[in-house]
Amino acid sequence: MSKTFYITTPIYYPNAKLHMGHAYTTVICDVLARAHRLKGEEVYFLTGADENTEKVVRAAKEAGQNMEEYLNNIVENFKSLFSKLEISYDQFIRTSDSKNHWPGVTEIWKLLEKSGDIEKRSYEGLYCVGHEAFITEKDLVLGKCPEHDEKPQLLKEENYFFKLSKYTKQIKEKIESGEMEIIPESRKNEILALLERGLENISFSRSADKMSVGIPVPNDSSQKIYVWGDALVNYISALGFGRGDELYKKFWPGMHVIGKDILRFHAAIWPGMLLSAGLPLPKKLLVHGFITSGGKKMSKSLGNVIDPMFLIDTYGAEAVRYYLARHISPFEDGDLTLESFKDAYNANLANGLGNLTSRIMKMAQDNIEKLKEEKIEELEKKEIPKEFFDYLDKFEINKAVDLIWFEISEMDKFIQENQPFKVVKTEKEKGQKMISDLVIRLFNVAKMLEPILPETSVKIKELIKQNRTPDKPLFARKD
Ligand code: MSP
Repeated sequence: MSKTFYITTPIYYPNAKLHMGHAYTTVICDVLARAHRLKGEEVYFLTGADENTEKVVRAAKEAGQNMEEYLNNIVENFKSLFSKLEISYDQFIRTSDSKNHWPGVTEIWKLLEKSGDIEKRSYEGLYCVGHEAFITEKDLVLGKCPEHDEKPQLLKEENYFFKLSKYTKQIKEKIESGEMEIIPESRKNEILALLERGLENISFSRSADKMSVGIPVPNDSSQKIYVWGDALVNYISALGFGRGDELYKKFWPGMHVIGKDILRFHAAIWPGMLLSAGLPLPKKLLVHGFITSGGKKMSKSLGNVIDPMFLIDTYGAEAVRYYLARHISPFEDGDLTLESFKDAYNANLANGLGNLTSRIMKMAQDNIEKLKEEKIEELEKKEIPKEFFDYLDKFEINKAVDLIWFEISEMDKFIQENQPFKVVKTEKEKGQKMISDLVIRLFNVAKMLEPILPETSVKIKELIKQNRTPDKPLFARKD
């Protein structure tokens, strides 16, 4: 039986278009999913939408659409962005899906209840709809939530609580022992410090009359399951947990890729729920930073929001994948501006990879026979350098991509220094050997490109198989 690999993105709120940050998470998940497929593993890649929230109710109202119509439209937009970005997901889970998602959530709730970890008590607090959370007096500026510029509501109600505090020690142990690995180390330390202070029990439901959407609490229809008790379960409900599906047995536990803002939910609440339910914890959490633009958080008011669709339309999806995979660190905040994007595109795709491919294939077309089929097969089978996968296994995606571009610059250097196009004219065999060696190296580059730039990888291999230069540059220069 081949090894399995399960990877998930967070489920995205469908209250607005997806931005560069969302594209980033999804692209790095895709790179990892493809790399594991390349290693011959059986991969399951999940993404989806977090629909049962008041944010969405408000956004639908603002758009003048009913919820279902609104959600269907926005989910279509998400899927169309993902398809342009060549995201090879296996399933798109929607939490409004009562057939596929709800049974898992209900099942988890019952397991928590059975462990004696659900209790009903009165709760009063300031609730910010934007945050979908209670916030404290000290978070307010002039009586308003500064982030959402609105007054929180004072809510008092009976809620069900989850006794998360009970699991503080166990969660800490699982993280310290590496049973649930948190990458990078700095995020692991951050969560350990939080655990050191102790976790509080958390409110896990809302009165049904305040939540127009959501999953009813089993045996108490006056309450609905609150955000995290619902959303986090997507990672296993999608695999058929609570519906008797085999996928769960096959793929759980897996790894989650998340942004730094939702670390606490994934590294404290989610493992607490799983421990209470007696289920295995995720193996790994990869926690990335935020994408900024010009050093600042992208925001509408600063006018520095970059729409991934705009970049795709201008430069192509592969260029976007390239930038995100190489020029953003998976562990820290990374910056993207229209200038930095254009510079990286021209230097490394138009001049770098694109130009090199044209030069090598022109020399090959003019001077050598096409590679025999057996040779191509042999090259396909040849192992990709271990170093490449080593970086990917450490989630140093940018360094794995650097390795490809290092080889690209080495090949450029070789051509410059040895001028095989001249040598072939005077010493035919020697020149031909140089050219066919370059073609083989280019084939290996195409293989490593597969998880990063899947379309370009195929294009380059095709050119090599047909022994011809591209009709037009792979990446046209942009002014
Ligand atoms: N719905 C929740 C997640 C529930 S998972 C069980 C949510 N959704 S979100 O749409 O607001 O954000 C999804 C992901 O995008 C999060 O991982 C978040 O960190 C990431 N990003 C949001 N803005 C970002 C940047 N500017 N840069 C990088 N990632 C960012 O949270």
